[in-house]
Amino acid sequence: MTQNNYFSVKFENDKLIFIDQTLLPLEEKYIETGNYERIAEAIERLEIRGAPLIGVAAAYGLALAVKDEKDDVKKKFDDAYNRLSQTRPTAVNLFHVLEILKNEFTALNDYKNAYDILLQKAKEFHSKDEEYCMKIGKNGLSIFRKKSIVLTHCNTGKLATGGDGTAFNIIKIGFENGLVSFVYADETRPLLQGSRLTAFELDKCGIPFALQTDSSAAVLMKQNKVDLVITGADRIALNGDSANKIGTYNLAILSYFHNIPFYIAAPSTTIDRTIVSGDEIKIEYRDKTEILNINGNQIAPSNYETFTPAFDVTPAHLIKGIITEEGVYQFPYNFL
Ligand code: MRU
Repeated sequence: MTQNNYFSVKFENDKLIFIDQTLLPLEEKYIETGNYERIAEAIERLEIRGAPLIGVAAAYGLALAVKDEKDDVKKKFDDAYNRLSQTRPTAVNLFHVLEILKNEFTALNDYKNAYDILLQKAKEFHSKDEEYCMKIGKNGLSIFRKKSIVLTHCNTGKLATGGDGTAFNIIKIGFENGLVSFVYADETRPLLQGSRLTAFELDKCGIPFALQTDSSAAVLMKQNKVDLVITGADRIALNGDSANKIGTYNLAILSYFHNIPFYIAAPSTTIDRTIVSGDEIKIEYRDKTEILNINGNQIAPSNYETFTPAFDVTPAHLIKGIITEEGVYQFPYNFL
C-alpha cells in the first residue's frame, strides 16, 4: 500500500497550496499562490475541482483578493467576487460560500481588517467541510446491508472536498469497517476523474478496485457484481433532484432497472434552497476539445459538432437516499 499523504488544498503563510489535479496520477505537483486570479484559473481548468473543494478554494481566493489592497478595497472585492462566481456554474457550494463572505464584507464598518475577517470565514468554511465529510462517512455506514461491492462515478474523495470526501468517504469508512469488499470506479469520460483521481485515492487507501469504462456499468450490474451505487452531487434541489458529473443519471436508471440501491452523498452546502426542482439547475457545457482530444491527442476532426454537458440531473425518485452530515434522507425529499 502506498502512503496516504497527499492533500487537495492547504492554506499556509498567506498562500493557497493546491495539488494540480490535471497532472494526477502521474505527477504529484503542488502549486502555491497568493493570487485570486490564479485560483479562479485553477478552478476553471479543473486543477482544483469537486463541488465542496471549489467552494473552499474560492473562499480563500476572495479573502486573498483584499489582502494588500490599500486604495479601493470594495472594488477589489467586487472584481474578485464576480471573477470567482464566473468560474464554474453548476456546483452551488461556490455561490454559497461567496455569499457568506459577501455578507461579512458588506457588514464591515471599515476595511482595515477585511483580509483577516474574510480569511477567518474561509478557514471556518474549510473546517466545516472537513467535519461534514467525516459525518457523511459515518452516516453512510447505515446504508450497507452486507459486505458490499460498490460502484462509483467521478471523484468525491479528498481531492474533491476540504476533508476526506463524501461518497468516497463512505466507501473508505465502509471498507475500514468491513462493509466494502471491492469498488468499481467508472473512468468518467471525458476528463477521466475516475481513472485519474478516484483510482489514485483508492490505491492510496489500499481499497481493492477495478477501473472500467462508463459504458460497462450495465454489464456489471447484470452479472450481479454491484450491490450499491454511491456518487456525489454538485447541486441538489429542494425536491432531491441532484446534479452530478455527466453519466450519473445513466447509472441511476441502470440501478433502477437492476434493482440496485442508488445513493447520493453530499454536504448540506450542496443543497440549493432557492430551487424547487432540477429543471432550474444550470448545467455547465465544456469546451469541445475535451471530447475531441484524449490526453492532448486529437482523436476526431475539430470541425465535428459535439455535445458537451459536464453534468446531468438525476430525478429524485431514482435516488434511494441522500446522505448528508445531518443523516440519511429518503425519497420523497423536501429540504425546505
Ligand atoms: O467537473 P468536476 O470534476 O468538478 O465534477 C465533480 C463531480 O461531479 C463530483 O461528483 C461532485 O462535485 C461531488 S464532489 C464531492
